[in-house]
Amino acid sequence: MVKPKQQKGLKEVTVSMHRSGFRDFLLKPELLRAIVDCGFEHPSEVQHECIPQAILSMDVLCQAKSGMGKTAVFVLSTLQQLDATDDGTCKVLVLCHTRELAFQISKEYERFSKYMSNINVSVFYGGVPIRNDIEKLKKSVPQLIVATPGRLLDLVRQKALNLKSVKHFILDECDKMLDNVSMRGDVQEVFKLTPHQKQVMMFSATLSKEIRPICKKFMQDPLEIFIDDDSKLTLHGLKQHYLKVKENEKNRKLFELLDELQFNQVIVFVKSVQRCIALCNLLCEQNFPAIAIHRQMTQEDRISRYQAFKNFQKRLLVATNLFGRGMDIERVNIVFNYDMPEDSDTYLHRVARAGRFGTKGLAITFISDENDAKILNDVQNRFEVNISELPDVVEITTYMEER
Ligand SMILES: Nc1ncnc2c1ncn2[C@@H]1O[C@H](COP(=O)(O)OP(=O)(O)OP(=O)(O)O)[C@@H](O)[C@H]1O
Ligand SMILES: [Mg+2]
Repeated sequence: MVKPKQQKGLKEVTVSMHRSGFRDFLLKPELLRAIVDCGFEHPSEVQHECIPQAILSMDVLCQAKSGMGKTAVFVLSTLQQLDATDDGTCKVLVLCHTRELAFQISKEYERFSKYMSNINVSVFYGGVPIRNDIEKLKKSVPQLIVATPGRLLDLVRQKALNLKSVKHFILDECDKMLDNVSMRGDVQEVFKLTPHQKQVMMFSATLSKEIRPICKKFMQDPLEIFIDDDSKLTLHGLKQHYLKVKENEKNRKLFELLDELQFNQVIVFVKSVQRCIALCNLLCEQNFPAIAIHRQMTQEDRISRYQAFKNFQKRLLVATNLFGRGMDIERVNIVFNYDMPEDSDTYLHRVARAGRFGTKGLAITFISDENDAKILNDVQNRFEVNISELPDVVEITTYMEER
């Protein structure tokens, strides 16, 4: 492994950006200040399309490419609409499909609300003792809550929280949440406990024609933004390759590539918890700075590993699909599909962990049998993306930002 070269030069961003500035959205000065601090210069296309309507409380059903700033759409538009009077009720409720994503979104709320006074945000998810959440809510109820649906429902059932003042209801990764029957049930139940009159917003990079009507059942005359041409979901800063490799050669090949390629941070996706643990152990034995994240570890452990990776204390993350959607780690420039994802949607979400916000990245997918090859073909046909065989040498400038 070689440390990345620090080169001077401009960051090449292959995002379609708008000339307009965040100022044009007429946001509160406190929000504009935080936006400047975050280093956002111009809104991305999806932000340009959604924010002006979202701040007028319109319902929004939005599909936009991975890594293009969908989070800021709902974070900024709900903070903009929040009034500073804190009457001890929850006004904004964001639900998402994993605990780490809930944690990440709550941090985004903290980042953007730092100059606003009287704003409280809390995150609630399962896997940690509910009594701590109940105690917290007894002391004060925050205006903004980010949560996973099961824990939120438990809190309401135990009367620690009521949702009668919710004015904004948001689902991130909405297709995933509503596809899963049990999660959909929880979401519906939570939804029914909120007032009829409210703003509903939903987001994902993938919104199949089948899931759209289900999403719209929660909404009234929404602003709809879809990408009907799948080829437009391709991230152009991301180089994508495959490598034919026998199952028993995957480790050797992975180690070789990790030695050859230059990376800031890497995520290696595998298909099961057992493989996640085993591969991470193997990498550590070979002195690679790796950590693992999967569902079969304590929740405290999961969050602390997420934080260690986010804070660049570890360079290599071995993960299951738990980390496949929504997670935003700026320095990840290489994603490996050590195991082929189960479908083309999962492929799209996983590889987009590299190349966030139009920056360069590299995705390498191991193909070890017919079924892997079939899924790769589905991906190529659907997204019209050129996934070529991994060449002997990958030119570093094609997958690493010059900084
Ligand atoms: N206008 C902007 N200028 C610069 N960076 C931005 C801007 N908007 C968002 N970003 C950054 O881009 C990254 C990706 O944003 P975000 O995670 O919201 O993408 P997303 O659309 O939700 O992707 P995914 O579908 O993978 O969840 C984040 O690090 C965010 O801070
Ligand atoms: Mg997202």
